[in-house]
Amino acid sequence: MKLADNKATLSFSNGSPSIELPVYQGSVGPDVIDIRKLYGQTGMFTYDPGFLSTAACQSAITYIDGDKGELLYRGYPIEQLATGCDFLETCHLLLYGELPNAKAKGDFTKLVTMHTMVNEQMQFFLRGFRRDAHPMAILTGLVGALSAFYHDSTDINNPKHREIAAIRLIAKMPTLVAMAYKYTVGQPYMYPKNDLSYAGNFLHMMFATPCEPYKVSPVLERALDRIFTLHADHEQNASTSTVRLCGSSGTNPFAAIAAGVACLWGPAHGGANEAALNMLEDINRNGGVAKIGEFIKQVKDKNSGIKLMGFGHRVYKNYDPRAKLMQETCKEVLAEMGLENDPLFKLAMALEKIALEDDYFVSRKLYPNVDFYSGIVQRAIGIPVPLFTAIFALARTVGWIAQLNEMIGDPEYKIGRPRQLFNGSQRRDVLPIVKR
Ligand code: ACO
Repeated sequence: MKLADNKATLSFSNGSPSIELPVYQGSVGPDVIDIRKLYGQTGMFTYDPGFLSTAACQSAITYIDGDKGELLYRGYPIEQLATGCDFLETCHLLLYGELPNAKAKGDFTKLVTMHTMVNEQMQFFLRGFRRDAHPMAILTGLVGALSAFYHDSTDINNPKHREIAAIRLIAKMPTLVAMAYKYTVGQPYMYPKNDLSYAGNFLHMMFATPCEPYKVSPVLERALDRIFTLHADHEQNASTSTVRLCGSSGTNPFAAIAAGVACLWGPAHGGANEAALNMLEDINRNGGVAKIGEFIKQVKDKNSGIKLMGFGHRVYKNYDPRAKLMQETCKEVLAEMGLENDPLFKLAMALEKIALEDDYFVSRKLYPNVDFYSGIVQRAIGIPVPLFTAIFALARTVGWIAQLNEMIGDPEYKIGRPRQLFNGSQRRDVLPIVKR
């Protein structure tokens, strides 16, 4: 870490001596004040629920400028990656720091492709679930279960194990998500087909059956690949921080990623794409575009508890760059599927227009996030709504594992152990039950 020229001075109004704190500079973005010695020097902690002002680690993977609406993976703008590279090139970039040349791309693709099958025993584990189980419940279980299958890659302190686990997770996630889907609809599992692309193979495992030939649509393949790329990493978001915290105890990579899947499920995070589509369907059922004004009124009423799902972001205070790319993909996919007049897309466009002009949203800098359009794209591809977050988990796995491996390789890493401001009862004595 590079020390900045200046230092921070913390002074107290009660006459306690002030202390100096070092300041570090990143390569771009805000500096950080190093408070690691604060408790030792003052006996005080900092208080920052929700990590509004806290950098929990150093990282060289993803950079977001929320005010500009900029997202860079390893320095490359998301727009260039989404239009000029495919998902596996992006995975290589996130994991190893550089985009692959043609030879490295071929080797990496082969490596991932050779690991797409899961242990046959996995389907018997899957059978323990109810057929109507939510795919994220199934996925949390299946990913955690990988640690029971692949004993040769569970030592988080062994770099070789970490690399094999990373490849296995990237390769097997599509297979697991597709198995979860096939199980809930009662169709036979389709084994991976290694002559297809990563996204094409996923479409095959999802939508092919043993009875009919299945041809992958290049438009849908490209759209899915873009969804994967746009969701591949997003620096220290809730699920990534969960993976880091979980992994910081030295647990195995599969268990740490399962924790990330569980965190992603929530509607304030990955579950937002499902929630956004349900919201659009709800408005559509109850009057459509004509009812937008009424809906926006409810959103603005704090007592209603209703949010405009797919809007707002902790970091982006400008248009989420991924939402723009997703909107483009949305148009392409709807055209391919003959759904140009899709009522939900029209509704989303109308909602976006009104929200972007409304002072409530403008003053709070609330813009569409990636989830606002990704649900419409996935629905048009034929992916059922409850599976949306599982697709997000599939795509984010590379980011989680890259961040986990970066943390383990960081000499400054320690087990994550936040402190608290205790405001409960002081010491008291237990009374015998008859006296309570
Ligand atoms: N609809 C209506 N009002 C909103 C919305 C929304 N979608 N998002 C934020 N606000 C309001 C809040 O009520 C708050 O208003 P106030 O200042 O009057 O109290 C203000 O905007 C600031 O919002 P916070 O909730 O404090 O912002 P925070 O950073 O904690 O939350 C979050 C960000 C969780 C994403 C929030 O915007 C939200 O719930 N959005 C809807 C869910 C969603 O789309 N999540 C996806 C996130 S992206 C992803 O995970 C891929």
